Amino acid sequence: MNKCLICNNNFNPFVDFGNMPIANAFSTKKELENEYFFSMKVGFCENCNMVQLLEQPDREKMFHDNYAFFSSTSNYMISHFQKFANSVTKLQSLDQKSFVVEIGSNDGIMLQNFVSDKIPCLGIEPSKNVADVARKKGIEVITDFFDESLAARISKNYQKADAILSANVMCHIPYMHSIYEGVKTLLNNEGVFIFEDPYLGEVIEKTSFDQIYDEHVFLFSALSISYIANMHDLELIHVEHQITHGGSMRFTIAHKGAKNISQDVIDLIKREKEIGLDKNHAYLNFTDSVNKIKNDLIELLKNLKKNGKKVVAYGATSKSTTVTNYFGITPDLVECIYDTTPIKQNKYSPGAHIPVLPYDQFRDSNPDYVLLFAWNHSEEIMKKEIDFMGDQRHWITYIPNVKVI
Ligand code: SAM
Ligand code: TMP
Repeated sequence: MNKCLICNNNFNPFVDFGNMPIANAFSTKKELENEYFFSMKVGFCENCNMVQLLEQPDREKMFHDNYAFFSSTSNYMISHFQKFANSVTKLQSLDQKSFVVEIGSNDGIMLQNFVSDKIPCLGIEPSKNVADVARKKGIEVITDFFDESLAARISKNYQKADAILSANVMCHIPYMHSIYEGVKTLLNNEGVFIFEDPYLGEVIEKTSFDQIYDEHVFLFSALSISYIANMHDLELIHVEHQITHGGSMRFTIAHKGAKNISQDVIDLIKREKEIGLDKNHAYLNFTDSVNKIKNDLIELLKNLKKNGKKVVAYGATSKSTTVTNYFGITPDLVECIYDTTPIKQNKYSPGAHIPVLPYDQFRDSNPDYVLLFAWNHSEEIMKKEIDFMGDQRHWITYIPNVKVI
């Protein structure tokens, strides 16, 4: 039995992925000699409805001076965060007297929009290498982990925030109660805390099991977010579906009673109950679906190899670490992975040790099949590669099921 990180209830795992490395630890040969692994199991707490990892590596093993994920590698995401920032400016009528804080500001993909509109803002980003990129864009960043005590310091040294924002960060943080206490301290009376993360409903619906890796300690639903907000005298007041990262939800939280709860929250909670996200059995079929994808993909890759086809992968995503390690995909099945991120290039993928090569070499490699690890960016990537792929080359995707395109 394990204790829920939110409500301390006992719960059991519904899927066991076995030993996993750090998903973003793209490493040199030398670094692989000391590769770190942890046991990756996922469970559902029937009391507060939170889906969570049972064990997570120490945060310093994941977020540090060499963090490999740079937000601005996707043009789509640049435009997504510009729209996100503009919507907050409008919602909160932000101006030069306002104050915006972003938790996990990475390379400044969101805050650059407030800087250009001259709206005071501050980033909190523990991974120094990505924070430095944001600083070069003129963004003020504190290199630290956000929590209750940092929130108290910011609120004393700056001012209370009109908006606290975060994207693809909240689901990374196991000490959630400290975050919500921090938000309560830092948010002004009319302030809003808006964050988005991969949405549990879609992970279950699409079997997008690769959203589960070391960094993603939680998968959120409106049910679980309402529960934790309530524990801290806060309230979920709005939800908005996003197509990013294979299906995300943007949650808006305010001080209890400060704002009206939108009909969208009520409707989403009703739908989550209808599809059974509040019951154990919704999660039991999930493992079977994951294993079907595993068998189908391995069979396909083995057949392609037998027939002498050249298979490479596209996008050295953190998600792909779950896929390669759980499925047992090694370089004899997939020769290499092409990626645009310099820090990942000429290194080896975590656990599976598939070479990661610069994207510039992708077209010259002349592949027959391309396994799309960055399936969440498929529209942007397939559009970019349409002429190169032509009729002779094929994409392989595996969410929600294995497909050759
Ligand atoms: N917000 C960006 C985006 O959506 O592209 C970056 C997301 S990235 C997957 C997660 C970021 O959260 C990393 O840059 C990491 O360093 C940061 N992070 C992790 N724990 C944090 C914490 N407690 N406080 C602030 N940032 C944190
Ligand atoms: P993400 O799925 O976590 O956003 O990571 C996407 C990865 O894919 C990241 O390492 C950058 C890489 N990538 C490319 O190599 N080419 C592209 O066109 C895009 C959009 C991403």
